[in-house]
Amino acid sequence: MKRRGFLGKVAGGAVAGTAGISAAPEAAGATESLPLVMTPAVIMAPRPDGAEVVWAVSRLARGRVEWKGEDGSSGTAGADRFGFVPQGDEILRVKLSGLKPGVRYTLRAVTDSTDGKEHIEGPWKKFRTLDPVAKETRFVIWNDTHQNNETIRQLHAATPPGDFLLWNGDTCNDWHQEEWLVPTLLHPGGQDVSEDRPLLLVWGNHDVRGQWAFRVPEVVATPEGRPFYAFRSGPVAVVCLHTGEDKPDAHPSFGGRVAFEKLRKEQGEWLKEITARPEFRDAPYRVVFCHIPLRWTTEVPDAGYEKGGYDAFSRFSREAWHEALVAWKAQVIVSGHTHSPAWIPGTADFPYAQLVGGGPQPERATWIEAKADASVLSFLMKNLKGEVVQQAEFKPLA
Ligand SMILES: [Fe+2]
Ligand SMILES: [Fe+2]
Repeated sequence: MKRRGFLGKVAGGAVAGTAGISAAPEAAGATESLPLVMTPAVIMAPRPDGAEVVWAVSRLARGRVEWKGEDGSSGTAGADRFGFVPQGDEILRVKLSGLKPGVRYTLRAVTDSTDGKEHIEGPWKKFRTLDPVAKETRFVIWNDTHQNNETIRQLHAATPPGDFLLWNGDTCNDWHQEEWLVPTLLHPGGQDVSEDRPLLLVWGNHDVRGQWAFRVPEVVATPEGRPFYAFRSGPVAVVCLHTGEDKPDAHPSFGGRVAFEKLRKEQGEWLKEITARPEFRDAPYRVVFCHIPLRWTTEVPDAGYEKGGYDAFSRFSREAWHEALVAWKAQVIVSGHTHSPAWIPGTADFPYAQLVGGGPQPERATWIEAKADASVLSFLMKNLKGEVVQQAEFKPLA
């Protein structure tokens, strides 16, 4: 018997209410009357040789992705690692490989219901593969949208295309309902957010909360299949880390569901290894994304977890990563979490600067555009009125 799954109470309108997805039928379990394709095909986890495309379906279906390059190349991605055509009754995922770095492509998702009744060809969407040796790069950053659909709509309208869109955590307000995952992550605010800016997610503390949080990795692709990863985009070396929760693992509010102490340690070891590789070791610019800041304006020694206190900065992560970040000469940590924009320059003890974006409500939300070329890496943070909130610039290290 089929479990309720991601579509869950869709018949009761929960999904429609959450993310503005087309109205659902009244009869419980009537998934046949839902559209076969429930969300845009989201282009995620860009790499120099491809990306992964993820979309939601309402019933058992097969998926493939057709692609065309500006260089005249074309092809179809339609096989998983075990020789199946990608298929599923909730989520379809197709990994594209063998593409060329820094080339502009268009792609579309093609969905066939397994009962043979429907064949859907999605719209063509643009993206560019990452180029580790490009002279320039430009990327954009969101954080802490917390299912605020008005904010997401305005961010989507204001944010230009980029080599990638880094969604810096707290996409949700805890995963208490399984059916919130699909609209929140694949169709946020009812928008097609990955068009010409492939999506990379950095996990926030709310993204790991709630009893259904463990299913986020089924919906979100990352370059290496882990929540921490590193890549070059032109002159910028980017390291993405998972700060985990804002209290110790054993805190009663987590109900025994989290094991971030181990993950932070593992990332500390990985950080030493990855930053020793020439493309990271010798990168002109060195940027780290993690949801909870590693520094904050007022650092108290005891957050008072027992009394409901929580970390404004992730002391546990800093203890696990600081040495490797300093040795690597990380220039800036870009975070969210505090819902309050901040800029903390580097010091002798903490040579990495800390940049923090705004909050979930439209009046507090910010987006950041980063640009790098041979002479400068710049970050420009704006609010939804278009006003500049923060600005930072870095000279190349190599
Ligand atoms: Fe948040
Ligand atoms: Fe947070």
